[in-house]
Amino acid sequence: MTTTATTTPPATGASRERVIVFDTTLRDGEQCPGATMTLDEKLAVADLLDTMGVDVIEAGFPIASIGDFEAVSEIARRTKRATIAGLARAIPADIARAGEAVRQARQGRIHTFVSTSPIHLVHQMRKTEDEVIEIILKTVAQARDLVADVEWSAMDATRTSIDYLCRCVEAAIKAGATTINLPDTVGYATPGEYRDMFRQVRERVPNADKAVFSVHCHNDLGLAIANSLAGIEGGARQVECTINGIGERAGNAALEEIVMAIRTRADVMPYETGIESQMLTRASKLVSHATNFPVQFNKAIVGRNAFAHESGIHQDGMLKHAETYEIMTPASVGLSKTNLVMGKHSGRAAFRSKLDELGLTLSDNQFQDVFERFKALADRKKHVYDEDIEALVDENLATAHD
Ligand code: KIV
Ligand code: ZN
Repeated sequence: MTTTATTTPPATGASRERVIVFDTTLRDGEQCPGATMTLDEKLAVADLLDTMGVDVIEAGFPIASIGDFEAVSEIARRTKRATIAGLARAIPADIARAGEAVRQARQGRIHTFVSTSPIHLVHQMRKTEDEVIEIILKTVAQARDLVADVEWSAMDATRTSIDYLCRCVEAAIKAGATTINLPDTVGYATPGEYRDMFRQVRERVPNADKAVFSVHCHNDLGLAIANSLAGIEGGARQVECTINGIGERAGNAALEEIVMAIRTRADVMPYETGIESQMLTRASKLVSHATNFPVQFNKAIVGRNAFAHESGIHQDGMLKHAETYEIMTPASVGLSKTNLVMGKHSGRAAFRSKLDELGLTLSDNQFQDVFERFKALADRKKHVYDEDIEALVDENLATAHD
């Protein structure tokens, strides 16, 4: 592995291929138990996604409820830049409703899906493979009569035989699909398998180059980001994701992780997204607040500890050069600064820097005494706050005067 100036923004340019960011926080994300949002909350999230540069916002599932229909319609009406997608099963009434909901969008998309794996065909849909091909031809054509931008998804693609998957994709493209999404619906794939699935489908299906291929990964085995990146390597140029990775079961691939992985490792991945990464922290907070879903402390990119350092060795390194222990700058994700957390593992250098930050100047003897008091306190207390440190300094001054 080469060493690079990791925290300097990577070069962008003609040699980088653009990956379309399709955010489904308001649809797959909202399917996360308990994450229901009000209309106002959805509008606030959609506005922020649009401002931060998301290319496609999947605003909901219009047939699911009146509330979903109204949310998709209102987001379609007011969104200035992004394409607005509405989800539809492979059922004529769903497709008509989705078409109606996205009608006022600057660019509206119908996203229709049907299962393709044997386990879904036999046990859930009770349809033969040929019957499903007929359904794809009819429903995609119906959607194309309503809008120019149609996405078709092969639900449970990763548990579908490659031969049958190719037949389905060929039918969808023939009927007019402009985006082909091959989801890892149950989070089962490994990165190598997922990459190869895209490579094979794109090689074997006639006219595959007429559609943009898309990744959509669930995180059941914690592989959603690795799989998404592998699918992009296999030729996909759209990534479906959610803010904070919320979604069914263990969630979807997290938008902020995809964006920052592509940006930070631009040295090995020749892609770029249109996302303003400085808005990631704000988006994470907004979605967490709207859904009442806390962000886990150690969550990559937006967790409260993502830019926090407690160990003395790390804090010492950070004070000397930020790239010792940070591969991206806090500013690149919208944070004002790195957080050197004062705790029992903190060393003298970090403690002195904290005193400077608090405007407290001590002689060497005073420093020694206050540092020992701090270590003793940190052994007893989980969090040592700025006020605790100020109190320790006051104690030292009081004792010195006795
Ligand atoms: O995970 C999945 O397969 C989905 C489809 C509806 C695209 O969310
Ligand atoms: Zn999904």
